Amino acid sequence: MRYVYVHWQHDMPEAPSDLWYEIADDDFQNRTIEFYADGSVGFAIRSAAFDGSEDVEVGGTRNSTEGFPDLAEINSDSQFKASEVAAADFERRWGEALASRFRMTTGLTIAIDGPAGAGKGTLARRLADHYRLNLLDTGLTYRAVAHKLLELGLPLDNVSAAETAARQVDLSNLDRTVLSAHAVGEAASKVAVIPTVRRILVEKQRAFAKAPPGAVLDGRDIGTVVCPDADIKLYVTASAEVRARRRLAEIESMGGSADFATILADIERRDERDMGRASSPLKPAADAHLLDTSEMAIEAAFLAAMAIVDGVLAKRNKA
Ligand code: DC
Repeated sequence: MRYVYVHWQHDMPEAPSDLWYEIADDDFQNRTIEFYADGSVGFAIRSAAFDGSEDVEVGGTRNSTEGFPDLAEINSDSQFKASEVAAADFERRWGEALASRFRMTTGLTIAIDGPAGAGKGTLARRLADHYRLNLLDTGLTYRAVAHKLLELGLPLDNVSAAETAARQVDLSNLDRTVLSAHAVGEAASKVAVIPTVRRILVEKQRAFAKAPPGAVLDGRDIGTVVCPDADIKLYVTASAEVRARRRLAEIESMGGSADFATILADIERRDERDMGRASSPLKPAADAHLLDTSEMAIEAAFLAAMAIVDGVLAKRNKA
């Protein structure tokens, strides 16, 4: 493993003032830290870049096919000055960068809303990983209530049993494997229309959002009801057909089979229930950034979201 410190000599306010690269054996960087002139820090972990399929930043430009350049090659570009450093030095700077990013994002809330299957869950996970924030998929809390009622064999409109189940929901103990079943999702959409269940769960979700170091929450009413003061609000959507196609591909990739028309009808029915209910219907907050992922890969959506978050962090850091 080689560690290289790359200093950007160009004097542009938007450009990183220093670049640090860790170069992996196969010539692809897998960790980058960037120090910006305004004191903010950017970093990336590119553990999946080894097959060359992902964009790799080389000397400040994007290059998806070439490996990391030689030091001589970087230095022949007058904008950069590269030198090899000791591993310990790199680790120290990496630690400082993480600590600095941690300080910058403390108290940050990112609210992500959108219909089922639009990609908001993946986006939320990527953002939480990147910015080191807590993550809550609020759909799981409604699923946990529905699962409890199904388990007890009670009807989904039994309000007092649903309220009791909602009070018992433990955010630190939500079992995604059990709760992700299709039937549980359908049932969740039904218990989610009960206003008192929503009140109880929203209170727990708000407490989660306030806990340090900050959080990414995804659901249907995060930007409108749970965290109306969120620093960043994203509304992620995609056409029902695209979402049905993705769901079918997911089922098939797990060795299952399903009928496209049935999935599409399910999605449309769920949209109607989530958008049409009286209590906190799914809709974009007035100040939400819209991300339509119909024609966009999740990586592109992540980069777009990251640009929005970085913009907010840069402003915060200047204030
Ligand atoms: O995102 P999901 O499929 O896990 O959500 C399951 C159901 O829970 C969804 O159909 C509507 C409801 N839900 C909600 O009403 N409000 C949220 N914030 C999250 C989910």
